[in-house]
Amino acid sequence: MAKEMKNILVTGAVGQIGSELTMALREKYGAQNVVATGRKTEPSARLRDSGPFYFIDVTKHRTVREVVEKHNIDTIYHMAAILSGTGEKNPGLCWNVNMKGMIIALEIARELEMARVILPSSIAVFGEGCPQDLTPQETVLRPKTVYGITKVAGELICDYYVDRYGLDVRGLRYPGIISAETMPGGGTTDYAVEIFYEAIRVKKYTSFIGPETSLPMMYMPDCLKATIDIAEAPFSKLEHHSDFNVSGFSINPAELAAEIKKHIPEFEISYETDFRQAIAESWPNSIDDSAAREEWGWEPAYDLAAMTEDMLEKLQARFAEGTLYGESNDPK
Ligand code: SER
Repeated sequence: MAKEMKNILVTGAVGQIGSELTMALREKYGAQNVVATGRKTEPSARLRDSGPFYFIDVTKHRTVREVVEKHNIDTIYHMAAILSGTGEKNPGLCWNVNMKGMIIALEIARELEMARVILPSSIAVFGEGCPQDLTPQETVLRPKTVYGITKVAGELICDYYVDRYGLDVRGLRYPGIISAETMPGGGTTDYAVEIFYEAIRVKKYTSFIGPETSLPMMYMPDCLKATIDIAEAPFSKLEHHSDFNVSGFSINPAELAAEIKKHIPEFEISYETDFRQAIAESWPNSIDDSAAREEWGWEPAYDLAAMTEDMLEKLQARFAEGTLYGESNDPK
């Protein structure tokens, strides 16, 4: 029998996914029952004022355990991680934060016999030797980035905790996530968010990913739905646990720019690729997520057109208020 999820801890709650996930979980499970934690970045007033918030270091067992015990936590959404771009600049940091942080979350959950741990994976697990179109659930996993290596090791160790200790661990291989609330930090797919801000602010954008490099993406409302749905799926229906392929749609920068141009005709894109181009080329163009569809009913609601319309509407409203980037219309 699955244990009930009553008191939730979200690590990485100031990040792109964590910030919106925390608010969605507070709405669903009660604000006081969802404890948000970050490392250094100040949370938004909305996040800080709507429920408990702490600064912790996920690589320090004691600091995580203190918050867990204080709030009687039975479920962890471990969103704290160093992403692909930052990881290549500082591989040691990426390995330390991702691996140590993950093991600490799993160990505390095992020690306290928690109900569940949600531990994200990524399309970064893929690399050389796997089919790039409709990349299957089961395939060769030989990533080229340290971030991808931590995610492959993460999937394996999560499944180990399921088999060895009976801990209920679940996770998705997130594609690039597009969202309007919090900017992503240090990823390869970040271009797909930056492009919207710059389209609105200056009507042009220089992409660090080349025009024809396709990547799987997902809009934030689908990301929140997928994350909460996998957490709530009946354990008995799951053949996989921590490595579900999921995707919304696949796009390249030229296609995304063309869609934005339908709304902002003056918008122009140019290209100056950097080290992230090679990372993007090592990842799938598109994903086969049929296991997620079959095992827990995954179905995305947003395609490219619907996502673009919604993103532009949200960001244009903020631009009109002078708060595109939070406190002003200019990037920090
Ligand atoms: N968005 C992530 C990155 O680009 C992929 O998981 O690193």
